[in-house]
Amino acid sequence: MNSHTLTVSKIGRGTVIDHIPAGRGVDVLKVLRITGREGYRIAILMNVESSKYGKKDIVKIENRFLTPEEVNIISLVAPTATINIIENYEVKNKFRVEIPEEIRGVLKCPNPTCITNQSREPISTFFKRRSLKPLKIECVYCGTLIEESEIPRLLGI
Ligand code: CTP
Ligand code: ZN
Repeated sequence: MNSHTLTVSKIGRGTVIDHIPAGRGVDVLKVLRITGREGYRIAILMNVESSKYGKKDIVKIENRFLTPEEVNIISLVAPTATINIIENYEVKNKFRVEIPEEIRGVLKCPNPTCITNQSREPISTFFKRRSLKPLKIECVYCGTLIEESEIPRLLGI
């Protein structure tokens, strides 16, 4: 550690979302619907050095834990992220997020004529993962393929 390093305290209890692609930390907070007004103490580091990825973002949220659904949504904007569960200042559990094979109800289909976009009969969206690298996700109802760059817009963030 030297005077040129940006240091942020360790947290006592909560969640550290690490290895977020640089520039996606704000998107991670948005998909969690965290605005800062909930009162959690939050640190967001952007464009810090990472040995694995060059640069990365980190989000630390005190006293907040994630549901499996929230972890799945994070995978869509930050596929390389690691979730660290902190208790008593120690990493109690660490795991990588994983883009699920089936994604229900969170992504909007970009095809305006898709049945999921017809207001008369509300059907929630249902996508299947077709490829990981490059990421391709297919609407089960109309076959439209979505690429990674389209995801933030289709999540409505
Ligand atoms: N962390 C924290 N508060 C703690 C413990 C850890 O904020 N009480 C943060 C660390 O700063 C780091 C992340 O949680 O950003 C993971 O911690 P750790 O597993 O100790 O770090 P590394 O071994 O570097 O993690 P990795 O191998 O996943 O890169
Ligand atoms: Zn569709």
